[in-house]
Amino acid sequence: MDTAIIYATKHGCTEKCSQTLANELPANTQLFNLETSDIINIDNYEVIILGGSIHAGMVNKTLKKYIEKNLALLSDKKIGLFLCCMEENDKAIEQFNNAFPEKLRNRATAKGFFGGEFNFEKMNFIEKAIIKKIAHIEDSMSKINYQNIKTFATEMIK
Ligand SMILES: Cc1cc2nc3c(=O)[nH]c(=O)nc-3n(C[C@H](O)[C@H](O)[C@H](O)COP(=O)(O)O)c2cc1C
Repeated sequence: MDTAIIYATKHGCTEKCSQTLANELPANTQLFNLETSDIINIDNYEVIILGGSIHAGMVNKTLKKYIEKNLALLSDKKIGLFLCCMEENDKAIEQFNNAFPEKLRNRATAKGFFGGEFNFEKMNFIEKAIIKKIAHIEDSMSKINYQNIKTFATEMIK
């Protein structure tokens, strides 16, 4: 089944995770960055995987708008949903539930929490200040959960 991974990213973590995921899926998987891709023809794909990241509690606006606009078209697809974020457990679930509409969450074949990264090289001055203050982190760090990406891929394929 042809698969599209449609994602939005601010500092590149969701892109990295999308590429890792694509490598775990069959070869007929295509990647679409919502910021840079031309119009995506959803009709060409039976499987749609939507991924985004959380900044200040909110998922990327481009992803949110894309889902709102295409909700009807997405309704008859096999769906996977994943999030990149640094929060874990209940907070991560809350962010996930706010990021994706109930209609998609209820029928998603796989839901993934892929962890996240703080990439100081890509942050602006304000972002750096926020992360230093709130997360008490001074340097870039990664806690991408590669096992969760693998598990997500397995669930999508079976
Ligand atoms: C300014 C800023 C705010 C953030 N706010 C949150 C947040 O509210 N909750 C969370 O779980 N992670 C938060 N994060 C962590 C991001 O979700 C994480 O860096 C993620 O890997 C970003 O993915 P992206 O590079 O694809 O945008 C924040 C990161 C930055 C830089």
